[in-house]
Amino acid sequence: MEKGVVPPGAVELPQPAQSPRRPFSRLAPLRWILTLVFISVVCYSVQPVLDSFHGFWDGHEVEATSLCPQASALSPEKNARLYKALAEAYKTDGFLLRAVDLLGGAVRIPTESYDDLGPIGEDPRWEPFGPFHDYLLKVYPQIHATLKLTKVNTYGLVYLWKGSDDTLKPLLLTAHQDVVPVNPDTYDSWTHPPFSGYFDGKYVWGRGSRDDKSGLIGIMTAVELLLERGFQPTRSIVLAFGFDEEVSGRRGASALGEYLLSTYGENAFAMLVDEGGSISEQYGGTFALPSIAEKGYIDVRVALAGPGGHSSVPPVHTTIGMLAELLVHYENSPIEAKLSRGTPTYWHAECLAAHAPELPSSLRSSIKKAGSSDKALRAAQNELFKDHAFKALVGTTQAIDIIGGGVKSNALPENAMAIINHRIATDSSVGAVQKHGIAAFRDLAARFNLSFTAFGSSITGDAPAYGSLTLSDAWGMALEPAPVTPTDADAAPFQLLSGTIKSTFNAHRELAEDSIAVVPSLVSGNTDTRYYWKLTSHIFRYTHYNAGSGSGLNGVHTVNEACDAQNFVEMIRFFTTLILNADESTAL
Ligand SMILES: *[C@@H]1O[C@H](CO)[C@@H](O)[C@H](O)[C@H]1NC(C)=O
Ligand SMILES: [Zn+2]
Repeated sequence: MEKGVVPPGAVELPQPAQSPRRPFSRLAPLRWILTLVFISVVCYSVQPVLDSFHGFWDGHEVEATSLCPQASALSPEKNARLYKALAEAYKTDGFLLRAVDLLGGAVRIPTESYDDLGPIGEDPRWEPFGPFHDYLLKVYPQIHATLKLTKVNTYGLVYLWKGSDDTLKPLLLTAHQDVVPVNPDTYDSWTHPPFSGYFDGKYVWGRGSRDDKSGLIGIMTAVELLLERGFQPTRSIVLAFGFDEEVSGRRGASALGEYLLSTYGENAFAMLVDEGGSISEQYGGTFALPSIAEKGYIDVRVALAGPGGHSSVPPVHTTIGMLAELLVHYENSPIEAKLSRGTPTYWHAECLAAHAPELPSSLRSSIKKAGSSDKALRAAQNELFKDHAFKALVGTTQAIDIIGGGVKSNALPENAMAIINHRIATDSSVGAVQKHGIAAFRDLAARFNLSFTAFGSSITGDAPAYGSLTLSDAWGMALEPAPVTPTDADAAPFQLLSGTIKSTFNAHRELAEDSIAVVPSLVSGNTDTRYYWKLTSHIFRYTHYNAGSGSGLNGVHTVNEACDAQNFVEMIRFFTTLILNADESTAL
């Protein structure tokens, strides 16, 4: 039975009857067996009663801190001297300028990735990746002298820093080289040009300065600095940098994933850290938000076909009219978003209750009771869903993003189509979205006399029909929600990541231990990690960047992307700490 399911004292389980000690009788074993059977039967029949309690009972509040237990800050010990020396170096203006130069130089090479890129070697828009590699070669001499570099599918980069102990699973650090293209129409809206890498004394400006050249340059710089100081790893470290993350990683991470899998094998890595959730302020608390899952994805194509003809003798509904009605119906009957226990967004809510001082008290109270009461869970959900972005993160979303049909104003359209984009809840599946689509369209398909085929199966059979309705996976790119990374007390990688985040955040601020809470959470969108699921079950999407510092600058994927130089130095500090902590860990 779950702890906290029943109000204390509500149900008394029968105790075996106490009897005076008697000399051993031949019946004694039988009596014990009967007693055990009796207890099991009672427990069994009580369970449904308890479950229904769950439904209407108000629940009782648990201690807030028990909701979101925190690891202690973790600093390298074996390499304490090296760590301290580097920490001092990172504090200097000289290092800040070096870091800014390294990042600025990377931003100045426009490695834009476009949706419609042709094959590598044919489409000239791939060419900037060559100079980008040359740049890395030039500015990271130690890395290129020591690590083994393998290029995968021309532009994918894998660096192996071999450790002295082959029995330890390597640490895998990933990032992407490409950036979102800058729309030429917006060049003039940038405070500093998008590929300038200009440093204004506080920010490094330009496309990719945050997403994700700061990640890539942050990792490389940490490794270069460790090499400069003569560090030799015990545990191998592998760096893998994709080159088309912004267009789904089809050529980059997908090839890298295959290469890493065939070279190292399944579950070969201790843990993986890629870009992802950052540091932000929420309800007066400071939170680090490593994403431990990813939503799934499917673009459903809705295609209608019907007889053409002259539009002077039209049917009551053209294919476009029917499609319109289908889409209106679909939009009005979405998959309901539901906050469920045991999901990353639920854990996020628990962490707010535990560590956000300004969370409204009624919401805090609901969350504290939600573990034992459905009513409290729904109350918490209603409150949390007032934040539209949070609700979207929890549920399976749908958005009709593309529509087409008809070619001429006096001809009946033979075809009409739409594409509906879905982001699938972590506790749902591609199959559930497909089922929802079939259920949503079935009645209207019958009303319009359309034969209905969905995801390769005929729903209506072969009866003659006026036209056809076909649902399909638009690009054959449907993606299940990612496996959820373990975060319990026994999950050494999560504990190590948490401890690393805390010591990095606290160290140079000289803050108290509980100044930042690490929240197992979920970010919207997908990263290259979709191709890395088999490499390790400990995947973290985390960018150690304080996005909530009140700068007002965002710019990721839009104009005025800029990276705070101090925060960038802290990212380098984070990777340094992570590499050393992972190297020393005996628990990974
Ligand atoms: C559907 O359309 C087909 C082809 O026009 C026709 O044969 C059939 O009778 C129609 N069915 C209904 C129920 O209207
Ligand atoms: Zn990115």
